[in-house]
Amino acid sequence: MKPVVPALTTLLAIAALANGEARAENVPARPAAFAPCAACHTVQPGQKSFGPNLHGVVGRKAASLPGYAYSNALKAANITWNRQALDRWLTAPQKAVPGTKMPFPGIADPAKRQQIIEYLQKLR
Ligand code: HEC
Repeated sequence: MKPVVPALTTLLAIAALANGEARAENVPARPAAFAPCAACHTVQPGQKSFGPNLHGVVGRKAASLPGYAYSNALKAANITWNRQALDRWLTAPQKAVPGTKMPFPGIADPAKRQQIIEYLQKLR
């Protein structure tokens, strides 16, 4: 075996270790586009924030998290949070659900919405 091979193997092992540390507890990497959401939303199971906890939100019925005081508008909206519903919501929350109390204007860039939705899908 040439000496370069074990050196490379060691390097790869170190890289794998470092990566494992950064992803402790299998937490998916948070995209930059989610930063404004994090001001109001936690994604840690069991934790509370100003907005509803978004862990496992994809596939959940809107306004269905026990113990969170949702607006009547969102409670009456009859939405299940799939990709399409989330895309519409994140484009313009007040248009998607008039009367929602989510004080956020929306995200115009479809690529950013996509990054957020993919991230939310991993949180389960
Ligand atoms: C300034 C605070 C704030 C920001 C910023 C914010 N939200 Fe919200 N969000 C809320 C509140 C408050 C609600 C509850 C709305 C209601 O009851 O009408 C909510 C509701 C939601 C819901 C519905 C959850 C459920 O259980 O039905 C989703 C999904 C959501 N937000 C995603 C996001 C995402 C993604 C972002 C970032 C692009 C974001 N929010 C930014 C405050 C915020």
